Amino acid sequence: MAKKASAVIKQKPVTISVIKADIGGYVGHSASHPDILTLARELLVKAKAAGTVADFHVSNCGDDLELIMTHWLGNDSKVIHGLAWDVFTAGTELAKKMKLYGAGQDMLADSFCGNVKGMGPGVAEMTFVERKSEPIVVFCGDKCAPGAWNYPLYKMFADPFNTIGLVIDPSMHDGFKFEVHDIHAGRDMFLSCPEQMYDLLVLIGSPENYIIKNVYTKQGEIAAASSTQKLALIAGKYVGKDDPVCIVRGQSGLPAIGEILEPFSFPHIVSGWMRGSHYGPLMPVSVPQATPSRFDGPPRVIALGFQVNEGALVGPRDMFDDPSFDLARQQANEIGEMLRRHGPFEPHRLGLKDMEYTTLPQVLDKLVGKPKK
Ligand code: F6R
Ligand code: MG
Ligand code: MG
Repeated sequence: MAKKASAVIKQKPVTISVIKADIGGYVGHSASHPDILTLARELLVKAKAAGTVADFHVSNCGDDLELIMTHWLGNDSKVIHGLAWDVFTAGTELAKKMKLYGAGQDMLADSFCGNVKGMGPGVAEMTFVERKSEPIVVFCGDKCAPGAWNYPLYKMFADPFNTIGLVIDPSMHDGFKFEVHDIHAGRDMFLSCPEQMYDLLVLIGSPENYIIKNVYTKQGEIAAASSTQKLALIAGKYVGKDDPVCIVRGQSGLPAIGEILEPFSFPHIVSGWMRGSHYGPLMPVSVPQATPSRFDGPPRVIALGFQVNEGALVGPRDMFDDPSFDLARQQANEIGEMLRRHGPFEPHRLGLKDMEYTTLPQVLDKLVGKPKK
């Protein structure tokens, strides 16, 4: 009888919630203050002792505070979202006291209303029954927009030049399904690869408009989940950067950890550098190097690897802390330098409609006057 009960407990689906917010920068928008990280850890230690979360890890990528939590309450849990909101609220209070830069920047609502989505923080969540062994990688970006994961997720799950498993592993040969979010129309579309690869690319090749939200196996098992929140669309004006997060499961019928990391060996160009208004290369870095400095950048990505063991987060391993990513970092610096020489010219600067900051209306008013009614 007892044996049966423990088998049932092991089958209970675990949820991984990665909830992040920029609640204050140190110095400027370049990093998070250690006292804020300590406070977040203390609050989550209490939540773990109370049994609200099974386990957690607190990190930061630049000025973004990242709460990685495991629990048994499923996606969109009011309890877990409320916990994250409370941690960010306490962190904001401390950030204000310390006069950290942009304290409470991503806290767009005055009080919690059940789910942090739409309130400022970014969320990526997935729920699954743990396999015999459950390796995952959590990616966190800074100075980049949510569409930053389109290119790497496509490479991991649809490109055989990146993921040889699609060609030679019978358990991956059928391909994967992509859920794409149309951020302006607010609707989701499902595309199956390799069959609909060209349809997929016409959408996700425009990461300012279409964002890969989830990836599933053909059997419907969750394989990857990303945050798709756009703060500017929530607030109706520029209020800060979105700086997305993403969770990817690996191995045994899913891309190998090396296939999951491989897309980042190419520092592809993303939007979000300086004032959210410039394109720059996404540089893969170790956690201590996730401190955007030159021209508030270039954009950064960290990769935290964990083995999930009955809800426990064993890790993290700092996956980009490896010399095999030195060349990508070098190339990112070279591409960054090349783009920087364009100064205020496109295509370093974003096109007019995508820029987060602009003086264009005032300049036009001054030059040609306000349009007559
Ligand atoms: C913030 C970011 C930064 C800021 C810039 C100006 O994530 O991307 O580049 O946009 O430092 O910041 P403010 O307007 O706060 O002076
Ligand atoms: Mg900031
Ligand atoms: Mg940030």
